[in-house]
Amino acid sequence: MKQLFSLEGKVALVTGGSRGIGKMIARGLLEYGAKVYISSRKAAACEDACRELSAFGDCVALPADLSRMDEIGRFTAELAAREPKLHILVNNAGVSWGAKLGEVPEKGWDKVMDTNLKGLFFLTQALLPQLEAAGTAADPARIINIGSIDGIQVSLFDAIGYGASKAGLHHMTRTMANRLAARHITANAIAPGGFETDMLAPMMATIGDQIVGGVPLGRIGGAEDIAGVAVMLASRAGAYVTGAIIPVDGGVLTL
Ligand SMILES: NC(=O)c1ccc[n+]([C@@H]2O[C@H](COP(=O)([O-])OP(=O)(O)OC[C@H]3O[C@@H](n4cnc5c(N)ncnc54)[C@H](OP(=O)(O)O)[C@@H]3O)[C@@H](O)[C@H]2O)c1
Repeated sequence: MKQLFSLEGKVALVTGGSRGIGKMIARGLLEYGAKVYISSRKAAACEDACRELSAFGDCVALPADLSRMDEIGRFTAELAAREPKLHILVNNAGVSWGAKLGEVPEKGWDKVMDTNLKGLFFLTQALLPQLEAAGTAADPARIINIGSIDGIQVSLFDAIGYGASKAGLHHMTRTMANRLAARHITANAIAPGGFETDMLAPMMATIGDQIVGGVPLGRIGGAEDIAGVAVMLASRAGAYVTGAIIPVDGGVLTL
């Protein structure tokens, strides 16, 4: 039982691992023994984050724009050439576009959907051979999608496409879980509440008190809060969990 959370010998990919929630999860996976690839668009930031994360284990930076089909093709070919098996895929890269319902531009809608839904789906599809090669009946490969409580409840923020993309991601997660179980791959989503990252920074600066005041546990989330659930899902501890949408929100959804 003491090895329940060990990730020794596992290979993981964390998209959007250069900062924020992705970096918190990458560090957790590294500390529990996985080799972790991180990816994001800005190559220098991705490599800087990887250098920093290397203090905790074997980290590799592979920058790519994972909202674009050509980049997904290039990226997955490069990863496949390096790693025949991928045990853990954390689909974390995500963007939002703040605008009132009557003012959402097509450009903003497309950016959110291309990153949060289309890119996530086609990246996962392209990586199925490596996930299938890694999974066994006793120890399936893991897909961990990062959704949001905004995909479950109507948000405080004006970002209608973002909430719709995360609701779609949650549903896609359940479908992946159902269709991939026989191939020894689980799929779960983590639905974070507020975590202080670049994405949340503008809202924290303007309505931070309201955000924190709306959390029953009285604080926003930190690195251990999100990494703990990701490590559980990625390790032996989470081998029998699939199709779950797990809120990590300090109780916001209980209100
Ligand atoms: N922070 C919160 O309170 C909160 C709450 C609920 C859900 N979430 C979800 O958690 C995830 C991470 O959010 P965060 O708050 O950590 O955001 P963040 O600080 O803005 O980080 C986003 C990460 O994704 C990368 N990224 C964005 N677009 C990409 C693309 N097209 N291809 C590859 N990488 C891309 C970014 O790097 P580049 O810019 O260099 O590409 C960065 O590494 C998102 O899915 C978000 O929706 C966050």
